[in-house]
Amino acid sequence: MPPATDQLRAYVEYLRDMGVYDIYRQGEPLAPEAYAALLAEFAPAPATAPTAKLPASAIEPSPGIRPAQGAAAVRRPEPTAPAHSSTSFSSKISTPAMLKLSAAPEAFPPPKPSFLEVPIPKPKSFDELMPLPQDRIAPADRPAALQAIRNLIGDCTRCPLAYAGRRNIVFGDGDPSARLMFVGEGPGADEDTSGIPFVGKAGQLLNNMIAAMGLQREQVYIANIVKCRPPANRTPEPVEANTCSPFLLEQIDVIRPEVIVALGGTAATYLLGVKQSLASLRGTWHSCRGAKVCVTYHPAYLLRDPTQKGEAWKDLQRVMAELGLKAPSKS
Ligand code: URA
Repeated sequence: MPPATDQLRAYVEYLRDMGVYDIYRQGEPLAPEAYAALLAEFAPAPATAPTAKLPASAIEPSPGIRPAQGAAAVRRPEPTAPAHSSTSFSSKISTPAMLKLSAAPEAFPPPKPSFLEVPIPKPKSFDELMPLPQDRIAPADRPAALQAIRNLIGDCTRCPLAYAGRRNIVFGDGDPSARLMFVGEGPGADEDTSGIPFVGKAGQLLNNMIAAMGLQREQVYIANIVKCRPPANRTPEPVEANTCSPFLLEQIDVIRPEVIVALGGTAATYLLGVKQSLASLRGTWHSCRGAKVCVTYHPAYLLRDPTQKGEAWKDLQRVMAELGLKAPSKS
């Protein structure tokens, strides 16, 4: 099955599981007359409708035949019809659909009925989602607190990614009391297989970036906006990120890092609740759950464009200064 069909099926199954059977309806149900009007609007042309291939004589009433009732509907367009509607068709042929086209070309395709417009939720920052708890969890209790969040997630089916070929839920990895946290977008194939974030090629580069900061991977905490692999590594949909990210919020509230590095646009969008270019978000501090947030390039992007590694290093140096870290001496 092509990926688009896979994804559509996943959405339909997800909505069905959620008990949603009429995904387009908003507000009051349509009145029976409105439904009837809608059906009439989209009803296929009658099977006997003449087509442009038929000879004109087959559909033009001969002078001796009186038009049947309703024949006005198949009257030829007036000579004032726009030129484009008569150039490629025989001017003697006029089906109801052609009449509609020639009478009001600006109305084709018909405007999308407003009830088909499903609003895309605007991202909310993690700080808007819920107030920061006053009390911090004691470092000794943090592993158990993280495990409790993992247990809550369970074998999650809350969003369409559960039905899109996921193998493992990728919860997070590292020190439950880390001062520094990295947040990526979502697991890729290697992470989906292992259940551990950032273990593929992008993960190896992230490990190098962490080492260059004078840290070991075990000293930081690494997680993603979504915990299940989006098919073909696409960007998570808003419904997926909005469904999953409250668990990440809980993880952050347990760990309470001093600095969070948002790796790439998706992490920045959902942590900060903004949809802006990475360029406009880099270079200044942002705030999330009491931590300072540094936005930088995603390692996968740096693999595609290594010329930007120097810029990412500048971002990490700001983080190092904030945390009082020194780069290891080269020996
Ligand atoms: N890319 C991400 O955003 N996260 C991972 O865990 C791996 C690759």
